[in-house]
Amino acid sequence: MSKRIDVSDLNVYYSDFLAVADVSMTIEERSVTALIGPSGCGKSTFLRTLNRMHEVIPGARVEGKAVMDGQDLYASDVDPVEVRRQVGMVFQRPNPFPTMSIAENVLAGVKLNNRRISKGDASDLVESSLQGANLWTEVKDRLDRPGSSLSGGQQQRLCIARAIAVKPDVLLMDEPCSALDPISTLAIEDLMAELKSEYTIVIVTHNMQQAARVSDRTAFFNIAGTGKPGRLIEMDETSTMFSSPNVQATEDYISGRFG
Ligand SMILES: Nc1ncnc2c1ncn2[C@@H]1O[C@H](COP(=O)(O)OP(=O)(O)OP(=O)(O)O)[C@@H](O)[C@H]1O
Ligand SMILES: [Mg+2]
Repeated sequence: MSKRIDVSDLNVYYSDFLAVADVSMTIEERSVTALIGPSGCGKSTFLRTLNRMHEVIPGARVEGKAVMDGQDLYASDVDPVEVRRQVGMVFQRPNPFPTMSIAENVLAGVKLNNRRISKGDASDLVESSLQGANLWTEVKDRLDRPGSSLSGGQQQRLCIARAIAVKPDVLLMDEPCSALDPISTLAIEDLMAELKSEYTIVIVTHNMQQAARVSDRTAFFNIAGTGKPGRLIEMDETSTMFSSPNVQATEDYISGRFG
């Protein structure tokens, strides 16, 4: 299930603007990789290239390679819709479909992929996905209530359930806790620690404590100035990045001296 991704020489553009330059990194399977760096350095942009979501913006394009399991995600014969199934995404603001019930929200991605699924299989999948997202016990008696009736932290776990229901290999999370209170944040962090036994997880976070708590490896991105592209400055085991980084800029950022 879980897969590693090898990114090489990736340049990411919005029309003529080079937003992220020259990124090469390996994202290890069954682990959590944190992307950190100051606002505007291209963390979200880079993250979206990993499931071909970047190119849905008019004029947006990518150069270079992102190879998952021997397959370049950008090869001409690769279907971006299939890539987005294999590489799921959870966003900053929980975004359940407001008119759908909790159960329908879990199944939304599966239906989008045009999978035919029996009633019995559907209810099994709803249960297993909600179990996987640590939400089952809280919602099992109200599966037909709207997704929007849940708290913010529950909605975010519902979105994680929706993402894992399609059985992806990789989960991308862009600041998944920034709209949540500390208790819900800890619930999502615990969940990430469980999910990494099955999935490759990449998380963008501005919270240094969170990066230190949840991730195995950390990548620091930085930007030299307005209009300049973001670059990967350094990537290493999280414990090394937070105790003895190689680059001064990493240390300055992590210790809160700038950014
Ligand atoms: N849709 C877009 N069109 C044009 N430029 C964009 C678009 N989205 C982002 N950018 C630009 O790309 C650069 C990187 O933005 P991005 O959102 O990836 O940064 P980020 O590191 O995620 O920042 P933050 O921490 O604030 O979320 C910025 O200069 C931004 O203005
Ligand atoms: Mg961002």
